[in-house]
Amino acid sequence: MPDEETGSFADAPRIVHPPPGPRSRELLAEQARLETDAVAYSHAFPMAIRRARGATIEDVDGNRYIDWVAGVSVLNLGHRPPRLEAALDRQRAEIWHALELPTEARAAFLRELDESLPGSLRHHARFLFTVTGGDAVETAVQLADFAQHRSGTVAFSGAYHGVHGGAVHLTSGRRYRAGSPFAGGRVIRVPYPDPYRPVLGADEGAAGTIAYLEHLVTDPGSGVDLPSAVLVEPILGEGGYVVPPDDFLPSLREFCDRHGILLLADEIHTGLGRTGRMWAVEHAGVTPDILCISNAIGGGLPMSVVAYRDDLVPRLPTGFHLGTYRGNPLGLAVGTEVLRLLREDDLLPRTAARGARIVDRFQAIGERHPSIGNVRGRGFMIGVEFVRDRASRQPWGERARSMRAALFARGVLMHTGGAWDQVMRFMAPLPIEDLLLERGLEAFEDALEELDTPVSAPPSPSHPPGHPPIGFPPPSTPGFGPPIGPPPPGPLPLGPDDPGGFSVALRHPR
Ligand SMILES: Cc1ncc(COP(=O)(O)O)c(C=O)c1O
Repeated sequence: MPDEETGSFADAPRIVHPPPGPRSRELLAEQARLETDAVAYSHAFPMAIRRARGATIEDVDGNRYIDWVAGVSVLNLGHRPPRLEAALDRQRAEIWHALELPTEARAAFLRELDESLPGSLRHHARFLFTVTGGDAVETAVQLADFAQHRSGTVAFSGAYHGVHGGAVHLTSGRRYRAGSPFAGGRVIRVPYPDPYRPVLGADEGAAGTIAYLEHLVTDPGSGVDLPSAVLVEPILGEGGYVVPPDDFLPSLREFCDRHGILLLADEIHTGLGRTGRMWAVEHAGVTPDILCISNAIGGGLPMSVVAYRDDLVPRLPTGFHLGTYRGNPLGLAVGTEVLRLLREDDLLPRTAARGARIVDRFQAIGERHPSIGNVRGRGFMIGVEFVRDRASRQPWGERARSMRAALFARGVLMHTGGAWDQVMRFMAPLPIEDLLLERGLEAFEDALEELDTPVSAPPSPSHPPGHPPIGFPPPSTPGFGPPIGPPPPGPLPLGPDDPGGFSVALRHPR
């Protein structure tokens, strides 16, 4: 059960004033008056926040929401978990800003991160602190070009790597790049292998993508010079939680090795347990040469890091990619605890197993609702894609946005993504209580039922009134992605013995 002392608000979702409530309206109006029109999230979730706990948020009008957004994959351990709060309190009394000078907090963080790295990077990496995700990506690309004595980066369609002056040219969305005053480096765009929307071959796994890359670098007439690096998200994040075929990352690694190209993994969204492993590349057994880390590493405090192979460059010039806020002590203290919690607990295998069951649950809902064209995911990174009809697979962004609004009205926060905004993304904090998963899934189907039902039509006979059944659906119908992970062993455990709740997993050590 959710626990008021250490976990989520037990009564979420609780709507006492349909949002935005009166005080939220006042604060939103003030924000609109004083802040730029560029503010985005306040349109998606129009409310003002008072406080948060675990996997729940309370607004200033007393409404309580189940949070399936988690600060966009930043709060992988939820809001204010007690162990992170205690680490922050301890550091708060020591020092807040120390430039790059060593501190106990910095050393402890580096040791912990070194232990946590994937594959052969573990114990064979150097670290370069940055502040934001875009900052880390720019540094990684600069580092790759420096190490290779040439420039050029392969980046994928659907990619999101930030909107900094350089990083925005690696991001694929036109709307982000439009009007950027800064010159982009040499970016070679290649279609990401999306099994639901394939561009380079439908049934061949990643073979089409790799063949295209081979053509680019081996055909003297391809029009492309040999790039220094390939930059890849192991699962597309803002691009709509697209899980590539299993052979993609291994064959990308081989491609890079064949041609002396560096492999850069942007794990800003996928990293730190989000997919049920510490790093998403671990699912494929692939080690990148450079790893971009941000979002969840600071537990909500802004901090990012680039980890790179220690033999990549003999020496970097002093001040290479310098900055004032590199490795903030408060973020470092929290980050050490984030890494420890992820490594100590059984949180990661539980995330993988529960994620596979949630995929099944969304697929079962999709079987009753043809507006859902595809469900896919790994761990707690699950995409539910809306289409106008399953045959044409025409993206239906309006339906996803209507779902977001309908869920918000029911007290559940779930965000959209994808090129057309057509994908609803499940990215709850990993230790979320099972009860809140159940309530959120009920709200999801209820909202979809409402949107799918013509105003005057009688209730659908296929879906009995009340809750959808708990338990697991039969195998998916054609048109759905394959189930991911092992078949579910049984229903999500419910009730006070739930070992997944914040109340157990993240309690203060006594
Ligand atoms: C995969 C990925 N890379 C880079 C970024 C950019 O991070 P930031 O917004 O901190 O610059 C994001 C942000 O969502 C991301 O998801």
